[in-house]
Amino acid sequence: MLAELSPALIAEVKRAAKLLAAQSRICILTGAGISAESGIPTFRDKQTGLWENYGVEDLATPEAFMRDPELVWSWYQWRRQIVADKVPNPAHHALAQWQYHAQTSEQEVILITQNVDDLHEQAGSTVTHLHGHLWRNRCGQCEIPYQDQLRASYDGQDTVSFEDELITCPHCNGYIRPDIVWFGETLPAQAWETAEKAAAKCDVFISIGTSRLVYPAAGLSQLAKQSGAQLIEINPDPTPNTIVDITLAEKAGIILPLFIEEITSL
Ligand code: OAD
Repeated sequence: MLAELSPALIAEVKRAAKLLAAQSRICILTGAGISAESGIPTFRDKQTGLWENYGVEDLATPEAFMRDPELVWSWYQWRRQIVADKVPNPAHHALAQWQYHAQTSEQEVILITQNVDDLHEQAGSTVTHLHGHLWRNRCGQCEIPYQDQLRASYDGQDTVSFEDELITCPHCNGYIRPDIVWFGETLPAQAWETAEKAAAKCDVFISIGTSRLVYPAAGLSQLAKQSGAQLIEINPDPTPNTIVDITLAEKAGIILPLFIEEITSL
């Protein structure tokens, strides 16, 4: 596999692996690109990205939900349908393998994701979700979880029908909504604290499959850099920036298995 990559990219993979093998605190931030090879569309890739075809303001804001809850629910039901039969790809598996390997080494590998799918967990990783969970519902007011949708039994219909009427919370009468962070909302406090701490104290920060356009998650790489970390980016279409130390311009599903093989053999 290594032979199929350009000599320059091979050299960068080896350089990154060597850097990582020598460092103990690693923080990884993943975005939609890591699930692209599993068949889940990203948000901003030309033509295929969800936000290329749908309006954020119609579907992913609290105002949109207030205006047209049925539309918002049907959008998330559609997304659940897309994800229901998707499985982790080699990139998810490689990260899970790395975390497993790290348990018996000196390394700490903290994984943070912006993704709302559960493919990291399915691969066996421990992961912090910054933007919520596609399979969960919660009250919009008191935030108490409400009858999570079971992925395994998903057949295109939610266990609870949100189409007929808006479901209200049995505790406070607020409206039940998908457990997703919408634009204009703050991130879950505990998840954000974990992410900020990991970024501030890591030796190497790896950004995988994200356009790094959505804040505050996008600011984690800057925080890591300011705190003295080296930055690695894995993205076939790297983001324009000046702070990345090593860019691996290839699909995550190709780079990560090689990368982990290199790290664990050093
Ligand atoms: P984007 O769609 O903005 O960016 C996806 C990135 O993945 C792009 O830079 C692609 O070049 C890259 N990419 C595509 N295929 C890849 C592959 N096989 N391997 C590696 N990289 C690949 O997605 P995010 O940055 O995750 O928010 O978007 C951030 C947030 O914006 C999302 O979490 C979502 C969205 O609105 C919420 O849902 C709250």
